[in-house]
Amino acid sequence: MDNIETEKIHWAQVVSDRWNLSGQYKILNSEFDFNFELIQSNGSKFIVKIMRLDCEKSFLDAQVSILEFLKKDESALPIPKIIKSVSGNSYELAADLNNDERIIWVLEKIEGIMLSNVSPISKNLMLDLGKKVASLDLASKKFTADIDPPSNKWDLTKPLWIRDNIPEILDPELELIINEILDDFLNISDRLNHLPHYWIHNDLNDQNLLVGFLSNGQAFLSGILDFGDLSKSPTICNVAICSAYLLILPGIGLNLQLEFLRGYHSINPISEEELDILFTLIITRLAVSYVNSSIMAKDKPDDPYVIISQRDSKNFLWHMVKGKNFFTARFRNICDLPPVKGGSEVIEYLNQGKVGFHPIIRQPLKDAKIISLDLESIIPIDPHSITQSEAINLTGRSELESQRSINLGKYLEPRLIYTAKDFRLGAGKNSDRRTIHLGIDVFAPLGTEIFTPLEGEVIHSEFCDKPLDYGGFVVIEHRTPNGISFFSLFGHLDPKSLRFKVGERLGKGDLIGKIGSESVNGGWEPHLHLQLALGLGQENNWPGVCNPDDIKFWSQYCPNPATLLGINPGAITFRKIDKNHLIQNRIKSFSGNLKLSYKDPILIMRGFKNYLFDESGRCYLDFYNNVPHVGHSHPRIADLVNKQLRLINSNTRYLHPSQKKLSEKLLSKFPSSFEVVFFVNSGSEANELALRLAKTYTGNKDFVTFDHGYHGNTNAAIEVSPYKFKKPNGIGKQDWVHVIDCPNEFRDVDPRYQITKILNDIQAQGRSLGGFISETFPSVAGQIIPQPGILQHIYDEVKVAGGVCIADEVQTGLGRLGGYYFGFEQQKILPDIVVLGKPIGNGHPIGAVVTTQEIAKAFNNGIEFFSTFGGSDLSCLIANEVLEIVDDEMLGENAKQMGSFLEKGLVALKLGSSLIGDVRGMGLFWGVEIIRNFETKEPGTSEANYICNRLRDKRILVGLEGPYENILKIRPPLSLIHDDVKIFLSAFADVLKESYLRDGT
Ligand SMILES: Cc1ncc(COP(=O)(O)O)c(C=O)c1O
Repeated sequence: MDNIETEKIHWAQVVSDRWNLSGQYKILNSEFDFNFELIQSNGSKFIVKIMRLDCEKSFLDAQVSILEFLKKDESALPIPKIIKSVSGNSYELAADLNNDERIIWVLEKIEGIMLSNVSPISKNLMLDLGKKVASLDLASKKFTADIDPPSNKWDLTKPLWIRDNIPEILDPELELIINEILDDFLNISDRLNHLPHYWIHNDLNDQNLLVGFLSNGQAFLSGILDFGDLSKSPTICNVAICSAYLLILPGIGLNLQLEFLRGYHSINPISEEELDILFTLIITRLAVSYVNSSIMAKDKPDDPYVIISQRDSKNFLWHMVKGKNFFTARFRNICDLPPVKGGSEVIEYLNQGKVGFHPIIRQPLKDAKIISLDLESIIPIDPHSITQSEAINLTGRSELESQRSINLGKYLEPRLIYTAKDFRLGAGKNSDRRTIHLGIDVFAPLGTEIFTPLEGEVIHSEFCDKPLDYGGFVVIEHRTPNGISFFSLFGHLDPKSLRFKVGERLGKGDLIGKIGSESVNGGWEPHLHLQLALGLGQENNWPGVCNPDDIKFWSQYCPNPATLLGINPGAITFRKIDKNHLIQNRIKSFSGNLKLSYKDPILIMRGFKNYLFDESGRCYLDFYNNVPHVGHSHPRIADLVNKQLRLINSNTRYLHPSQKKLSEKLLSKFPSSFEVVFFVNSGSEANELALRLAKTYTGNKDFVTFDHGYHGNTNAAIEVSPYKFKKPNGIGKQDWVHVIDCPNEFRDVDPRYQITKILNDIQAQGRSLGGFISETFPSVAGQIIPQPGILQHIYDEVKVAGGVCIADEVQTGLGRLGGYYFGFEQQKILPDIVVLGKPIGNGHPIGAVVTTQEIAKAFNNGIEFFSTFGGSDLSCLIANEVLEIVDDEMLGENAKQMGSFLEKGLVALKLGSSLIGDVRGMGLFWGVEIIRNFETKEPGTSEANYICNRLRDKRILVGLEGPYENILKIRPPLSLIHDDVKIFLSAFADVLKESYLRDGT
């Protein structure tokens, strides 16, 4: 038996004697102590801690004292509960195997995984962390017991010990940075010492924070561990320590750390005094931590890991130190203060109307036209790539007009015109991108002179010559009468016209420079970009456009410059569409069963090919919508609509060449037995009509259909849609409807035997068959491709029994399947009636029924068939154009190629994942079945829901389908490209590795 085993047996006996607890013991990793997990037969779990030999009792007394106090005061705090021994003690002394005395204590185990191992770290989790740390601090403030834990090197009020150890660092540049940090600390130490001191946790690092998951995958902070570094310090030190570790943890960064701060501030408000010193405390903690690890690494000078981490730490600390003011501005903003001290005074000063600004340009601006460059302005046509001609004609004015009139562009407007790489924060088209305009544009003639509205000093002057950049750019620092500085930014000037150098002073009304031409202004239509800023740019960077996620900060850091121009700030500010108003309207004026997708619904303002753009210009990859068959907003269709609506849009009671055009084009795609078309408004109406045709033709009503099928929302369509009528509160099955299982290769379902029985039953009851209706590839049932021969068998039997076969090709038709134009071709069957919908109008409402002369003749029984909008001139032209585009752009071929690339990737993911049970599909019609167990094939409903929502977070849209909603439905527009498939596959692979799917379910 090895030593550890003997130890385990020994301590198990001690715990059994002293605590009366027994069960399975598992050894846990620990640097100095012996830690075990004890699992009782009833499932209760405990942590048994045997302290290191030299552990002082005062160390334990202090922890026990505060833990017991906090648990009593605030039982909801996620901190460990101490289990008393049989004698009522919080810890016991017991001899180890060498007969040395050890302290031993037992804690209730908190379930969760370490924050450092969690992926992704979400905003919600950070918010929760902030709130819980704040609650801990609030409770700690009430803890006044006289404890005396041993002092420790992590006390953030006493970091100066690292000065003596700086030589350990071996890097002179880093030494300088650390000295700078300590000097900064000395500047704030008095203010720090004047803040009230409490016993605080003092080591809120990612190893001491545990994360749990709710059943929907939402992460929450489940545990705050290890009170061994308690220190009497101001609570802001806890905030700083936690922030420091968050900022260095991969995958977090400033935006998530800010969520932590927001959560904290909402429970335990952080004062301005505390915010003043927060940054210095964070950076000091990082410096202490860095020096400490350098001391520890001294023994391994050649360890490459240590060398790499020195270089990384240097860069990181350098960026942090340089960003002090900027970080502080962000901290202040998240805690509801103006981003810089005196910020409100600047705004008041500028808005009081007494300042008397010198006009920035000579021409009056009061009546200048305000233009829109927002998401409804259709500029640029390709939202990922503005063309040169679009960029030089943003206002859409003629040459003459632009000489005569001034146009103004809005503040805080979301725009898709910023398509250069520098505006992107990631590589994919769906990655974060800066879209929100932080200034006002003044579109004035080339060469227009620009004057400074107030006196000031040039602090930055540069020629930013990259495409779509600022061109000639100047920043001037001004001061309020009380000496508070603020900045005005002038972009798109002619660099040769810039009159002043950095450091030079300008008087009010001095000429700064002139509006530049497209060759020197970044390639734009001549205009001035005017912006205000309350603080300095981040490391010499002065963004004129921000990421929509950061708008709260940037709109305060760069307030509306309208007053400098003497124009009305309200009129020049973009009025954002309020998503919540739209949601409220849904609730108030629409029926509750009109569902929205996703926990956080999406407001979509633009589409282009396979991309969707929300109200702020965030791009989503559309892997879900099959209606925009040839891609969203296809220009050929848009142009056609524009033209036709100016000509005529009438109905089928009159002749129009469009009817001939579409019918011929459509029939050319069918086998020769199909000769007649009917045009209607939707897939539902088409199925409704198809059922009428079949019933009239056969004179019979009884219909057979697949389980879980869906054919539309009209009465008859619902009656043949088990997906709807079987739901709780559904209308139930009508006696003329007969349901057979939906084929399913993955679950071994073959309904062939059922059709024979049902047809016999119908006959035995003296009834006759109307027909069989199904989707050729059942989609709602879970993106199913029926096993070869099943549909053939059913069709044969139905036809022998005198029934008509209706193929609902709403989801599968028109080239989606790659090698096949329709699903029935792949299944080698010949339907009597085919129903088309959704994709045929690319978003315009049109459906079609295609059938044989024989069936159409029987239907022509003297009663007129008329659908007012079905077959309108415009609808016919649009549908014809869709079919033409599928041919011209070889979209069927593209579906085949992209489909096979997608398939390879999905199959590879399946091999590496225990969650993917099945990957099935063809062309661009795919289903990925998520399961919990390969043996039982238990559906992974919550897992699939989690994946779908996480992909949405990553801005990729897929759907959920199947009786258990556990099948990811992938059905993009056929214009899909290779790059986007790659992004999707990699995002999907990342989601599959996330903690909730690995450890949380
Ligand atoms: C297979 C199938 N048939 C018919 C319909 C009904 O089409 P619509 O909603 O256009 O009426 C749908 C809609 O989802 C469908 O998926």
